[in-house]
Amino acid sequence: MLNKIKVAILISGRGSNMEKLIESCQNPNSKAEIVVVGSNKINALGLNYATKNSISTFVIDQNNFKSTPNSRQEFDNELFKELSKYKIDLICLAGFMRILSADFINKFKNRIINIHPSLLPDFKGANAVLDAINAKASFAGCSTHFVIPEIDSGEIIMQSKIKVEDNDDVDSLSRKILVEEHKIYPQTLQLIAQKILNQNL
Ligand code: GRF
Repeated sequence: MLNKIKVAILISGRGSNMEKLIESCQNPNSKAEIVVVGSNKINALGLNYATKNSISTFVIDQNNFKSTPNSRQEFDNELFKELSKYKIDLICLAGFMRILSADFINKFKNRIINIHPSLLPDFKGANAVLDAINAKASFAGCSTHFVIPEIDSGEIIMQSKIKVEDNDDVDSLSRKILVEEHKIYPQTLQLIAQKILNQNL
């Protein structure tokens, strides 16, 4: 019987959430193993950390897909091909700044999760923290959720809530939210991994 699920992480940048996911899987009791880290950007910083931790990496440079009419589908086909080499059970998006096609997402139903820096369903989209500041929200936070074709809209798995102080700006609030992200994403991964192992998902 399986005692760990195989996980791919997709990143686009610094990869601090990816680091926390990798760390959580280094615990011998982890229910998940990170088998590959993929990026849509060649210079994504997180790739170095993955390599240093002996995790396979790949890059599908999105710049190579820009000018073709079916570029989104072509990119996603490449991604699917690359991921298929690893027999993965789950994909964790961790700062992956690219919209995946419905076709790709539907191939991994209930098998893609994401972290978003807001208390969903509030402030979906790429500027969640700025939007929370502009809306003078009293509370902010982060959410982990399943990925469905509608952006930032899949079922919420975990949330962490913090108070927004009067003097918070995008930087200070993003930093505080990131501390919470680093707690709930590894917890979410372990929870979902256990459900997959129990065949409850
Ligand atoms: C995080 O704030 C995450 O919520 C959002 O993108 C950011 C990624 O940060 N989706 P990092 O690359 O994990 O450091």
